This record gives sequence, structure tokens and C-alpha cells, in this order.
Amino acid sequence: IVVGKLKNNSVAAERLASFLGIERVIIVPGDSNHHQKILELMGQELNQLLTQVLPVGNSTIAVMGGTTMAAVAQALSPQLSKNRDLLFVPARGGLGEQFSIQANTICAEMAYHSGGRYRVLYIPEDISAQSVSPLLKEPVVKTVLDLINQSNVVIHSIGRAATMANRRNMSASEKKLLTQKQAVSEAFGVFLDAKGKVVYKIPKVGLQVSDLTNVSHVIAIAGGAIKATAICSYMKIAPHQTVLITDEAASEAILRDN
Ligand code: BG6
Repeated sequence: IVVGKLKNNSVAAERLASFLGIERVIIVPGDSNHHQKILELMGQELNQLLTQVLPVGNSTIAVMGGTTMAAVAQALSPQLSKNRDLLFVPARGGLGEQFSIQANTICAEMAYHSGGRYRVLYIPEDISAQSVSPLLKEPVVKTVLDLINQSNVVIHSIGRAATMANRRNMSASEKKLLTQKQAVSEAFGVFLDAKGKVVYKIPKVGLQVSDLTNVSHVIAIAGGAIKATAICSYMKIAPHQTVLITDEAASEAILRDN
């Protein structure tokens, strides 16, 4: 594995944080799109960041799905549960992903590696709005939704619009709309154009981007030069307290092109 030399890492991190308008950026060497090992480094940074920011006592941590989240979950360590009671919850209901990268699965993985607990949200895929509404009143669903709304930490990734549309088997007409509206990124079920304008929303249950304002710690994890445009786009609507864990390839591409 070729791990790129990261000169002036902290200078680049500060420049990137100020360019993106967020609290902090952490950059690991390399390109996570090409080397799995880089995702491990991002996971280690996540573990370290959580060690620094999680308060003693109870924390409810809402997590999203995706391949990045699935990889970084493996790096959490049992030390995180020292003096802490961690509860992981999925930030949103299912978004039509494969089991191994669903938020429910990531919750269980993060809890397993960090010595915490987890709850899952059972909302079937492709269910009509009419059928969802009585489900939301079911105690098993309502309890988890309440926990999601009380979370003090949110961890999520950012996807490229086209990749996410394909992965979620969106219809040809939905994909056409995304192309027409020049969607470049997706996070929390919303698709955004390069200016950060919401061009499409997948109506699902759980946390919305607008809810993040009240969350103490919001951690975004996304890397690879390939995701540079998507990262910039989402950061236009990200809450200021966001900490981005990214890699050198994404960072260089963003700073070079802007
Ligand atoms: C999805 C999340 O599961 O993963 C999205 O719901 C996110 O919000 C996406 O954009 C990122 O996926 P990946 O595989 O690129 O980490």
C-alpha cells in the first residue's frame, strides 16, 4: 500500500475546515477509494475523536449506513465504554441498502466493537406513507424514534448522487430528474446539487438534516478524490459543528479545484 506523504497536514486541515465552513477537519494520508487500509485509518481517527468528545456517562449515537460507515465501525475500541454508557441507534429507517451496510447493521457493529448497546428500527422498505403512520405509534418503533431525536452524537457519510441512486434502485424517472437537476451528492436521504440546493428527497423515517442543528457532535466521514464534489456540495448545508474525517486525496481535490 502506498500511503501518500502528508505534508502540512494540519495546515491543509485548517484550510479545508475554513473553506467548507465547518468546525474541524481531520485528514488521513492516501485515497480511501483505492485502498481499504485508508478506511482503517479514518476509523482510527473516528475512535480517537470519540474518545476526546464523548462526555462521561450516557451518550446516544445515531449512525447512518454505507460502506464507509461499515468499514470505520471496525476500528471502534472497547476503551470508549470506560466511564460511559453508549447506545447506538440507526439515524433513519432503511433506505434500501444491502444488509451489511444498513444503519441497523452498523449500529450493532459499532456497539459490538465499542462495548456499547444498540437498538434497531424495524420499518419495512418501500412501505406506503399510509402504512407507516400507524407503525410510528407502535411502542417498539416510537421508543427508537424518540432515542434518535435525543441523540447527542450523529455519525454519517456522504455519497455521490449517481452512485446512491443506483445502489438504492431508484426508478429511471427519478434518475432522470436527478440528472436534470444536476444532483451531485446525497446524505440523510436528500440529494443536493453543487450549490447545496436540495433537489430530491427520499421520504423516510428518522433524522433529517435540519435536526442536526441541535446535535452536539456531528461527525461526517467521507474520502476519495472521487467524492470531492459530493463532499463540497453537502458541506454547504452541514451544521457548523460538523467535524469531517477525510483523506488526502479528497482534501487535495477540493482545495485544488476551489
Ligand atoms: C448511505 C447513507 O447508506 O451511505 C447515505 O444512507 C450516504 O446517506 C451513503 O450518502 C454513503 O455510502 P458509502 O458507501 O459511499 O459510504
